[in-house]
Amino acid sequence: MDLAAGLRGRHVLVTGASSGLGAHFARLCARSGAEVTVAARRRDRLDRLVEALREAGAPQASAVALDVADADSVEAAFAGLDRLPDVVVNNAGVAEGGPALDTDLSVFDRVIATNLRGVWAVSVAAARRWRGAARGGVILNVASILGLRVAGGVGPYTVSKAGVVQMTEALALEWARYGIRVNALAPGYIDTDINRDFFATPAGEALVRRIPMRRLGQPEDLDAAFLLLATDASAWMTGVTLPVDGGHLVSGL
Ligand SMILES: NC(=O)c1ccc[n+]([C@@H]2O[C@H](COP(=O)([O-])OP(=O)(O)OC[C@H]3O[C@@H](n4cnc5c(N)ncnc54)[C@H](OP(=O)(O)O)[C@@H]3O)[C@@H](O)[C@H]2O)c1
Repeated sequence: MDLAAGLRGRHVLVTGASSGLGAHFARLCARSGAEVTVAARRRDRLDRLVEALREAGAPQASAVALDVADADSVEAAFAGLDRLPDVVVNNAGVAEGGPALDTDLSVFDRVIATNLRGVWAVSVAAARRWRGAARGGVILNVASILGLRVAGGVGPYTVSKAGVVQMTEALALEWARYGIRVNALAPGYIDTDINRDFFATPAGEALVRRIPMRRLGQPEDLDAAFLLLATDASAWMTGVTLPVDGGHLVSGL
């Protein structure tokens, strides 16, 4: 089955696309023939990505400034779209944290506002429009294996991602009747700019040794699962959180 073909002609909105996995997913969608709208707060980075996508053969790529933690910004971004998305990828996220006893409540609030409340706000903004237009849609949340198991020192993040897993099920249940599917990808540790330095340290190397497949994921390792959940290949799947983690979740206790 050619999973990528399932995105041809679809309009995909990717939040948090100004760097890392979001930019990677945007490039994957564009290569697969989708119209892509990239969203985040750093508009300059989005504009550069759009330029690159257009040069690579995706003339319809566009950018929209969006702060998922700000309900007005979410509404304004959706109101400004020329075309309703077929697929919304809730990828925006922050990974602030530290030991719980040293973490200010403001950090907890910020992580929850972005990673959890932001996913809710964007999902509801999309689903209201899909229902209003009497059509369905696809929501793909980017959770994490830290939503399914815990690690030390990242409490607010693990709590937020566990919330995303439960939200995926709750919204899938409510919106199946409207033809809206809601699934989540739960990546393990992926090699990106923001964590590369850490994984070069002894603590980072020790963490990689605990991954049964003994290596970090590359963004490309997520592609097949992403395409499965973003396309009609998963037409009878909803409420699912799919781990892609080199076996990290089944590491021995
Ligand atoms: N990398 C991994 O190993 C890994 C593993 C599991 C899950 N994940 C998840 O994958 C997603 C992407 O992570 P990443 O590793 O690619 O990190 P990243 O490079 O830091 O990307 C995070 C993105 O989220 C955006 N963002 C942050 N706050 C936002 C807000 N309030 N409104 C809109 N956009 C916002 C950022 O853009 P602006 O700053 O421009 O707004 C940025 O584009 C996150 O949800 C993360 O939790 C990553």
